[in-house]
Amino acid sequence: MVTEPGNTPFIQPGQPVRWGIIGTGKIAGIFANDIPHADNATLQAVGSRSQASANAFGDTYNIPRRYDGYEDLANDPEVDVVYVATPHPAHHDVTIMCLEAGKHVLCEKSFAMNAAEAQEMIDAAKKNNRFLMEAMWTRFRPLMYKVREIVNSGEVGEVQFLTANIGWTATFDPEFRLYAPELGGGGLLDAGVYPVSFASMVLGKPDQVCGVATLGQTNVDENAIIAMHYPSGAVASVGFTIRSSPVSLGMICGTRGTILIDHDWHRPTTFSLRKPGEEPQHFDYTLKAGVGYQFEMNEVERCLREGRTESDVMPLSETLTIMETMESVLREWGVRYPSDRN
Ligand SMILES: NC(=O)c1ccc[n+]([C@@H]2O[C@H](COP(=O)([O-])OP(=O)(O)OC[C@H]3O[C@@H](n4cnc5c(N)ncnc54)[C@H](OP(=O)(O)O)[C@@H]3O)[C@@H](O)[C@H]2O)c1
Repeated sequence: MVTEPGNTPFIQPGQPVRWGIIGTGKIAGIFANDIPHADNATLQAVGSRSQASANAFGDTYNIPRRYDGYEDLANDPEVDVVYVATPHPAHHDVTIMCLEAGKHVLCEKSFAMNAAEAQEMIDAAKKNNRFLMEAMWTRFRPLMYKVREIVNSGEVGEVQFLTANIGWTATFDPEFRLYAPELGGGGLLDAGVYPVSFASMVLGKPDQVCGVATLGQTNVDENAIIAMHYPSGAVASVGFTIRSSPVSLGMICGTRGTILIDHDWHRPTTFSLRKPGEEPQHFDYTLKAGVGYQFEMNEVERCLREGRTESDVMPLSETLTIMETMESVLREWGVRYPSDRN
């Protein structure tokens, strides 16, 4: 349950949110670059599997506290919230370790390897009364607030059809985390999670899910379409590929109008609202600064200041449902991971 405001704030007025980052890979660097664009955040510490990498990252992003190992960062009393930026198979253990050490956590997508892991992470947050959120950054971009406002106002009528796709031409490398099962390889957990989450944001929990996929040499999903049906009668089709580079569009179709989010819809800047017989209305949310990760940081800050243990924009119950949806099609396709429980 989302904590109601009025609880004791986790961050005192006037104090910045002190971030620690675990993992020093690609997204960790992009996130670190956006910290100065957040409302009130400082980058306090970094933890890596090696001191050399922590030092190099610390030098690049001007981070004072650098740890050889993740546990020391989790125990740093000068850190309020940890951003978990490891490959997905490590999300479960690292997140729980941080929560047990009393830290709040923003954990990268995909949140976990399966629903059972996600549930244990959520349980750990509740047990320790700490904030936890999946870093589904797309949801926090200003454009997405506007899209939700239009949908919730009923301006496009009842949403009956949604489609979204995402992808890029990746270079095959069996050791790379996108392909290696032990690193959580496959397009769904890396890319497909975006349109699955988008459909969930608009339509909620599906009552039927099925999909078709092409598995590659390492037996992970490289090309797929997922079809979902909802109790309202709405349907959604979401696709992802790591074998080609589609124009990535997101489309929400209601009984009275359509929202079309332009390429790349998952890091959106523009969209149009189309109604039969009317000229399309165009909306431009081009960012003035940063890549766009500052908005999820601001949401974490808002929640911590209001004493909330989860966000109502990306609730944990929804993260869990998204994991269940993804797990169901992965099982259908025969994709197996070392972390699978059954
Ligand atoms: N939100 C977004 O836009 C976005 C974009 C890309 C990726 N992601 C997500 O962020 C996570 C990381 O992606 P990435 O592209 O940054 O990955 P990456 O470049 O491979 O970096 C991951 C980092 O995690 C640490 N790590 C821990 N265990 C590891 C292991 N067994 N093998 C390799 N590295 C390990 C490493 O840091 P140390 O060596 O310092 O410990 C490594 O540098 C994934 O879950 C991914 O889905 C999100």
